[in-house]
Amino acid sequence: MDFLLITPQARPGVALIQLNRPKELNALNGQLVREIRDALQALDADEAVRVVIITGNERAFAAGADIKEMADKTAVDMFLDDRFATLEQIRRFRKPLIGAVSGFALGGGCELAMTCDMLVASETAQFGQPEIRLGTMPGAGGTQRLARAVGKAKAMEMVLTGEFISAHEAHRVGLVNRVVPVGQYLEEAFRLAARIAAMSPVAARLAKESINRVFETHLEEGLHFERKNFYLTFASEDKKEGMAAFVEKRKPEFKGR
Ligand code: CAA
Repeated sequence: MDFLLITPQARPGVALIQLNRPKELNALNGQLVREIRDALQALDADEAVRVVIITGNERAFAAGADIKEMADKTAVDMFLDDRFATLEQIRRFRKPLIGAVSGFALGGGCELAMTCDMLVASETAQFGQPEIRLGTMPGAGGTQRLARAVGKAKAMEMVLTGEFISAHEAHRVGLVNRVVPVGQYLEEAFRLAARIAAMSPVAARLAKESINRVFETHLEEGLHFERKNFYLTFASEDKKEGMAAFVEKRKPEFKGR
């Protein structure tokens, strides 16, 4: 991995992926996107990992797809490379994924942030889809995920003007879960991750899958899907442990089985 720092047990049960192309503000070239996909695939298979945090650095989460790499590409080059489909693979990551965002989250960087299940932002975070200023438009879910996250009017404004929104505005419109001072965003993400890592990983995965279903289907099908996943949790040791611990007035210890 040239552009990523990966710590599988940064905290108990919590892995940390750090984008590490600081001079280019973590611009997402093809290799970096593939590395993220491969890292998530490995962490998905690692039973000791319950939650993953993805972050950049204080100045930039990621300033978008690598413009220098794309500048001379033709439509057919882009179609054959199909890099942005890789983000779809990232979306299929099954464990809870938290983005810890500081500084720029632009274009593909904003799209990567939106593939996360939750976002913790520093006060300095800025979100934007500035592709229109380059004569193009979002191509890795920016129009679809942004509109679902913040509604049509705000998504239109961001995508059509290319203007950035602040962390506080992102919080107000529902794009991020919380905003904290810049020195604390990673620690806050770890705090959130630790709370989730203490839960049943089986239930967490099924619950994540069920919430994501909202964006794929209509209510009746979604409720049906949720119910099946709910019943499936009753096949887990963790559900027995969780309910037994409640009755015995002790803390549950979930094993992921
Ligand atoms: N691609 C390639 N290089 C980038 C980059 C990007 N997206 N963003 C920043 N960089 C590079 C700069 O070229 C610069 O490199 P050099 O030192 O070699 O010149 C370095 O990172 C630092 O950037 P700046 O000097 O520009 O820093 P700044 O603080 O003055 O400005 C910024 C920061 C506002 C983020 C500005 O860099 C910028 O506008 N970046 C581009 C943002 C953008 O348009 N992103 C969308 C890309 S398209 C996309 O993502 C497609 C998609 O949806 C699928």
